[in-house]
Amino acid sequence: MGESVACPEIVVSREGGILEISIRRPDRRNALTHPMYDAMTAALAEADADPGVRVALITGTEDCFTAGNDMVEFLQNPPKGNDSPVMRFLDQILMQEKPIVAAVNGPAVGIGTTLLLHCDLVYCARGARLQMPFVSLGLCPEAGASYLLPQIMGHPRAAQLLMLAETFTGEQAVEYGLANAVYDDGEYLQKAREACARLAAQPPASVRMTKAFLRQPQRDAVAKQMRAEGDAFLARLGAPEAREAMMAFMEKRKPDFSRFE
Ligand code: COA
Repeated sequence: MGESVACPEIVVSREGGILEISIRRPDRRNALTHPMYDAMTAALAEADADPGVRVALITGTEDCFTAGNDMVEFLQNPPKGNDSPVMRFLDQILMQEKPIVAAVNGPAVGIGTTLLLHCDLVYCARGARLQMPFVSLGLCPEAGASYLLPQIMGHPRAAQLLMLAETFTGEQAVEYGLANAVYDDGEYLQKAREACARLAAQPPASVRMTKAFLRQPQRDAVAKQMRAEGDAFLARLGAPEAREAMMAFMEKRKPDFSRFE
């Protein structure tokens, strides 16, 4: 398998028509930094541009997909504006022409869950633990989640996952319409690779056209909502509620929101 290291924590490899993007920063539970977003964006753009690539696969390390955005970066070097690495990554994943498959095990937190909304096939391990704790962090949804989640699962469940920030399993992700299947921890990645191989063997123009037809009817609306969420999210990062939540995480204590109105 040809392997190139775009940034040390994002390992991109190619086999046949499959471009595999592995998030590997295990000491920080694969938390995502600006250079990691940039490397993933570049890899996805490469997948679309290279006629030899038929499908992109996003995965993490064996026991962790990603703990979401790096909290230290949120506090010390937050993204600024629509041209930030995270927003460019979200734009890329929204507009990706070729299919994206995800293989998820362990924590898939924040953008680790919302990026799945832009994948075409999602395979989870039994050990997958998904969560969108934006509200618990004093933030708001991102990646168009506030548009797509109610559409996929209805308002009550979307509110449950966003406002109560409940953690859910791979089985629940399938039940909620966010994932295709759950496999044992030892086989989820292999199953995802097999699906990629089957996709790569399909007629490529027809696959791209089908993805476009599936996504196009709501792309503009998702993009608009993503932009609105992004503006609010960036503003919230400096808000006292979010500072308290993130400081509490770093200091390994419970946050105290009692003083806020
Ligand atoms: N940003 C920065 N560092 C992170 C991180 C993140 N998003 N997630 C985990 N880490 C760090 C921890 O601070 C810890 O560092 P330490 O070894 O110096 O104490 C290390 O990674 C291991 O994390 P830990 O919490 O001990 O692992 P765990 O297996 O018990 O729990 C998670 C894993 C993902 C459930 C937990 O780390 C978590 O909730 N992380 C925050 C997720 C989050 O809120 N992301 C942002 C969403 S917008």
